[in-house]
Amino acid sequence: MPIVNRFHDFAEEIAGWRRDFHENPELLYDVHRTAAQVAEKLREFGVDSVETGVGQTGVVAVIKGQGDSDSVIGLRADMDALPIIEKTGKPWSSKVPGKMHACGHDGHTAMLLGAAKYLSETRNFDGTVVVIFQPAEEGGAGAQAMIDDGLISRYGIQRVFGMHNFPGHPVGTFAIRPGPLMAAADRLTITIEGKGGHAARPHLAHDPIVAGAAIITAIQSIVSRNADPLGSAVISVTMFNAGTTDNVIPQTAELRGTVRTLNPEIRDLVEQRLHEVVDQVGSAYGVTAKLLYRRDYPVTQNDEAEAEFAGDIAAKVVGERNVDRNVVPTMGGEDFSFMLNTVPGAFIFAGVGEHVANLHNEMYDFNDELIPVGCSYWATLVETALPRSA
Ligand code: NI
Repeated sequence: MPIVNRFHDFAEEIAGWRRDFHENPELLYDVHRTAAQVAEKLREFGVDSVETGVGQTGVVAVIKGQGDSDSVIGLRADMDALPIIEKTGKPWSSKVPGKMHACGHDGHTAMLLGAAKYLSETRNFDGTVVVIFQPAEEGGAGAQAMIDDGLISRYGIQRVFGMHNFPGHPVGTFAIRPGPLMAAADRLTITIEGKGGHAARPHLAHDPIVAGAAIITAIQSIVSRNADPLGSAVISVTMFNAGTTDNVIPQTAELRGTVRTLNPEIRDLVEQRLHEVVDQVGSAYGVTAKLLYRRDYPVTQNDEAEAEFAGDIAAKVVGERNVDRNVVPTMGGEDFSFMLNTVPGAFIFAGVGEHVANLHNEMYDFNDELIPVGCSYWATLVETALPRSA
């Protein structure tokens, strides 16, 4: 029976798990209920081993195939939700006020569980599959925490694959590209120390607000004049805090923002230029401006050969004409990038419907029609990457 038909038969059951996760969203590393459910199901499926508490609350299961191949591949899903008040009105809406599965990680977790059940039952492969359920994708670097806890080394993972649902694109389509797929996402905080005073006597003060405004304007030239126009960089200042009233020049100001880049050289360049511009514009305005640049997630960099392999798998599931192998990269960040920096692999986008709300939107709900397609992708990937000898 074709794999996709096999999953159509049990897609309803998997959708039930998905809706249960959706009703009970948990944030960052605090995914105790979700992780416990995942571990319990994996044990029920009869996988070879289940380990919990990897990278605080991650879950890892091993499924061994038939034969004696020592190839090991990792498949990864994320389990955490977002601090958003849900407005979908769905019967399975969040039961936890202020928390919501608005990025579809409920669907990712359910689909990888579905694949694990199939793989554990059929074992139609030769080698070892490690299924990885990580916490804290949304800003907590849960992937890095699992790696630090020995995920890749202890399980001997040689290749690793991830998937994200892709709103705006029909179910039954996939999109991928070799090289950079998603941006490095860094944070900047600029603190400006001036000299406060009377608003009517500015010559006796060092105004941190005027200096801050000049810094914001000067920063714009880094993208337009320093970065290669064929590279990509975004610098957005998103917060400017200063002052308390209308007749006082404040002592300090604070700016915050985000930097997104698609290649490591441009990332280094932007960081270095930010330091120079902030420092020197501050001096020019007679204030002390300090940049704190925090590197968050690196570029999600698909291995060339693995991206082609993942595209081939998608084509097996939905047909070549439904696979975009050269999708435009997105400036969003993704912490699967840490795994891709450790072993070769590929991250793929799976269309979740043209009318599904945007990720991180209060109206977003994962479309369960993706379940048989996503599960088939995982199962086909394993049976192709770890073939049984004839
Ligand atoms: Ni996500």
